[in-house]
Amino acid sequence: MIIQTQEDVTPAVLAEVARAGDPRLREILTAFVKHLHAFAREVRLTEEEFRRAADIIAELGQRTTASHNEVVLMAGSLGFSTLVCLLNNGNDGQTETTANLLGPFWRLGSPHTEDGGSIVRSPTPGEPLFGTVHVRDQEGQPVAGAEVDVWHSSTEGFYENQDPGQADMNLRGTFVTEASGTFHFRSIKPAGYPIPVDGPVGELLRALGRHNMRPAHVHFLIRKPGFKTHISQVYVPDDPNLETDVQFGVTRALLGDYVRHEGEPAPAPDVTGPWYSLEHTFVIEPGKSALPRPPVTGKAEGARPELAVLERR
Ligand SMILES: [Fe+2]
Repeated sequence: MIIQTQEDVTPAVLAEVARAGDPRLREILTAFVKHLHAFAREVRLTEEEFRRAADIIAELGQRTTASHNEVVLMAGSLGFSTLVCLLNNGNDGQTETTANLLGPFWRLGSPHTEDGGSIVRSPTPGEPLFGTVHVRDQEGQPVAGAEVDVWHSSTEGFYENQDPGQADMNLRGTFVTEASGTFHFRSIKPAGYPIPVDGPVGELLRALGRHNMRPAHVHFLIRKPGFKTHISQVYVPDDPNLETDVQFGVTRALLGDYVRHEGEPAPAPDVTGPWYSLEHTFVIEPGKSALPRPPVTGKAEGARPELAVLERR
């Protein structure tokens, strides 16, 4: 089709998309082209703005390395990761779910750790945390033999892959639920952390006057054949940034029961000061057990990066 005016462009592209043999590809691209073209019309996108957008998208890729994923960070910063998560979990978005976004910091192959074992693998400041996690199916029955990855950032604000000062796989471990559907882990209470803002994500946040903090949380990834892989995060309920999480991840189902204990004996005799407990139940759905592609695969080298903290205005 030879194009005469701007109105001809969309039907020309849609006619080509309609030729796609794969029906799902056809469905996705048809909607994508319609919305993309409608977006340009709605905001009267200028040529300069279009070129700027292309630069930003290129930079998202250029900044993505084995130890950093700017694309995933941007998807989270626009709420898209949470939207896709909630559309696809909780009976396809019909009910509340304990599923949550994966985030850019999951690594495949964290060390198998015995029930109750610690995931602190190099000296890491923080108050001791003892976790008790239950995995249930939709009928409320315990799910035994589920493999569960647990990971979180240090109280200094770094996942180990960002921080050459931490041991490989520090604050990461894989556990297996017992017959009761439960496992226990030991770590330190997580702290909130700033996401990196030296790329396009930082530019977006500065332009909108947003801060770059994530409220404190522990990540979980639960898998067992016959069940949809369940990805989650459990948030510390008194964190000041719950309402303004830079990744829009906080949902009501995921406000965790982190309890501070003082003057009570801890589950481990070496703990003499205050400590925290966390008990949480995840409900997993029947479906396909498949692992996501890890957003990061390696560890940063050299000096520990400087983490900038943006103020909300
Ligand atoms: Fe995180």
